[in-house]
Formats: sequence, C-alpha cells, structure tokens
Amino acid sequence: MIRPKRVTGKISRINVLGLGEVLEEDSKSALEIPFSLPNEIVDYVKDDDGKANNVKVKVESPYRKQPSCPQFQKCGGCSLQHASKNFVTEWKESVVAHALREKDLYPHFRATYVTPERSRRRAVFSGCRTKRGATVGFKSYRSNNIVPIQGCIILDKKILEFSAGMEKITSLGCTRSTTIKIHVSTSENGLDVCVSNGKPLNKELQTKLTKIAIEHDLARLSWEDELIVLLKPPIQKVGELKILPPAKFFMQACKEAEKVMVEEVGEVLKNENNVIDLFSGFGTFALPLSRTKKIFAVEKSSEMLTALELVQRKTPTLKFIRTSRRNLHKNPVTADELFEIEGAVVNPPRSGAYSQCSELAKSGIKRIAIVSCNPLTFARDAEVLIKGFYNLDWIKIIDQFRWSHHIELIAKFSRKF
Ligand SMILES: C[S@@+](CC[C@H](N)C(=O)[O-])C[C@H]1O[C@@H](n2cnc3c(N)ncnc32)[C@H](O)[C@@H]1O
Repeated sequence: MIRPKRVTGKISRINVLGLGEVLEEDSKSALEIPFSLPNEIVDYVKDDDGKANNVKVKVESPYRKQPSCPQFQKCGGCSLQHASKNFVTEWKESVVAHALREKDLYPHFRATYVTPERSRRRAVFSGCRTKRGATVGFKSYRSNNIVPIQGCIILDKKILEFSAGMEKITSLGCTRSTTIKIHVSTSENGLDVCVSNGKPLNKELQTKLTKIAIEHDLARLSWEDELIVLLKPPIQKVGELKILPPAKFFMQACKEAEKVMVEEVGEVLKNENNVIDLFSGFGTFALPLSRTKKIFAVEKSSEMLTALELVQRKTPTLKFIRTSRRNLHKNPVTADELFEIEGAVVNPPRSGAYSQCSELAKSGIKRIAIVSCNPLTFARDAEVLIKGFYNLDWIKIIDQFRWSHHIELIAKFSRKF
C-alpha cells in the first residue's frame, strides 16, 4: 500500500471563515487548514477532494492556547478556541478593517467589547435519533454529524442543563430519517423552546411533550407555529420593560452585549429627538430610546411589532412609538418619508440594508447608528452613506459570537452638511 504523501506548509493568514490558509504552489489558490494560526508550520495529507487532512502543527504560534472545551475541533460551533483572546480580537478587527479598506475607508476603531464565557442566551440545536436514543448538539466541522454540547463554554448554564430534555424531545418527535431543529432561548421564567422539522403533531405526542415541558420547568414549548404548552409567560426584558415575544423570534445573542449595544446607540443618538429604528424587531433599541425620544419602528415581522406595541400600551411613560410593518429591502422608507427624522438606528439581517441605506444617503438625517453582523454587507452599505456625504466616525466590535468567525459591530455616521 502506498502511504499518502505528507506536505509541509506555512499558514499565511486566517480567512474570513476563521480558517488558516496555506498558499498552493501556484501562489494563487489557498488550501484551508482549520484550527491553525498565522506563521505556523503544519504538515498534512491532501485528499482526493483537495482538502487537508490529518493536520499536524510542527511549529506553533505564540498566540496558540489550550482550548477549554473538550469538544473543540469535533464540534462545528467554534473555530478559534485555540487562539488567545487578544489574537481573536485583533483578527476580528482586521477582517472589518480589510472589508472597509476595499471601499477606501479607514475608520477609527473603539476598543472591542468581548462577552463573558457561558453567556449565550439563545441557540439552535440539531437533533437526530440513534440506536440508543437520540443525539442533540451542534453539527460537526465539515459534516452533518451531531456533536453533543457537554462542556460547552459558550452556552448559558440553563441551556446546557436542558440537554437531557432536548434528547427526550428528539427521541419522541423526530423521525428516523430526519434532523430536527430545537430553538432554545432563556427567558425570565424558564426556557422558551420551539421545535421545527419534527413529526406531525397528534394528541399522544402533544401529551408526552407537555410532560417533558413540565419536568424541565420550561416556560413555553412550541412545535413550528403551534403552541404545545405555555406554563409561564416567556418574558424577555429590555431594561426594565417586559416583552412577550412570539414563538420564533430574534434577540441579541448575549444580554451583556445587548446592554453595551443599547448604550452605544443611545450615545450616537443622544441629541436627536425624532428617531427611526429600522429592522426594529421587538424594540431592543426602540424601547430604551423611547424613554426620551419619539420613535418610528419599522420591521417586517408583524408578530414582533405586535409584541412591541403591547409594551407601549402598558407603559404610559414611554414617548410616542409609531410602527410600520414593511419589507425594507423591497420597500425602503424613502428620503421623502424621512423628512422630519433626525436620527436612525439600522440593524439589518446578514444581507444588510443596501436599499434602505440608499434612501438614508439622500435624507437629511444627522446621525445614524448601524448595528451589523456582517462586515461585507456593512462595508457595502457604509460606502453608500459616505457617498451621500456622511462621515464614518467610529466602529466598535461587540464580540458576542466568541470563538467563531462571526462578527458583530456598531458604527456611528454623522452627516457632513
Ligand atoms: C438583526 S435583527 C435585529 C432586530 C432588533 N433590532 C434587535 O436588536 O432585537 C433583524 C431584524 O430585521 C427583520 N427583517 C429581516 N428582513 C427584513 C426586511 N426585509 N424588512 C424588514 N425587516 C426585516 C427581522 O425580522 C429582524 O427582526
């Protein structure tokens, strides 16, 4: 048998997916080497699909550290636990700086905020049935295998403690040939759980699922759009305000990160009284701002806006919040409609807010805070605003997706004239 040839190479950089790269002989293409760091010397076997396997690090980077999670390299959730905290921070800043450099933008970076360990308050798990019962966890790197979450240093303890419950739900509610998705969020009254891609519901399944919800002291358990059981209201708090969200909903991944984001957005818009919150969700920014400002909240999801409207009705001390259900990609709020608005917060999904920023660029809005989870679409949208006579004053990275390649940032834009 011919032994596969081992190749030695030097890691030239970490790419935007958090993977090390070795330049190929043609110096044009690069081979991805996961869990490596710049300047490390690695040797590996290149398989028939052109992927590096059986990687061994021969010379280690000084930024290398011992990963804390026992599942690291098996679980696909983290790609950078082998790197020091400073390295990850600097690398995330460099990814954002690079995306902006491509647009000829060189902004000032404020100090990055890094969330604590075990602070992730929402996650989506995969579950499948096995001969012995069920496995629940995150998909592994480069495969559909599911890796259990024991020892995870990202997740809130209350979510980790629900692993056994998720296994029971999977054993009962997943067919042999499918994978279910279990969306879990912490709430003020226990976990809020919503399952998708499960078996069709029937009376027996519903009764058994209700028993699991009671056993694990859940606040709410939903099956796609159907409520299985509401044991306690799954309240989310924004400051002191209490929100009852729909079954599948968005909230910032970590409470601590959300607090910093709300403070920074508040600082950007401190002198503006008439503010629009674009992609508002249930009002993470709109609600705190509405203590002192008039708010126009715009969002596609009717259920999220209903949750926001309910809080407003119950809280007479808030200033006026106007809401609009609207697809901002297809039907952005136009510059004419923005006539009286002085400030904006824009927090789009990963696809960004190109159409909306094109309208903002034509408006007279004085200050804009963009909160983005995608440096590439952010750089594209920032360019549109800069061409419309805005300054990019600063950027701050909020590392709420620790040890992954995902990046969250806030940026302040001010109108030049
Ligand atoms: C990143 S989340 C931000 C939500 C909110 N700002 C927060 O911090 O909780 C993006 C929001 O945009 C909404 N959304 C997605 N696509 C949209 C579209 N085309 N038009 C309007 N809203 C959209 C989603 O429903 C979601 O609430």
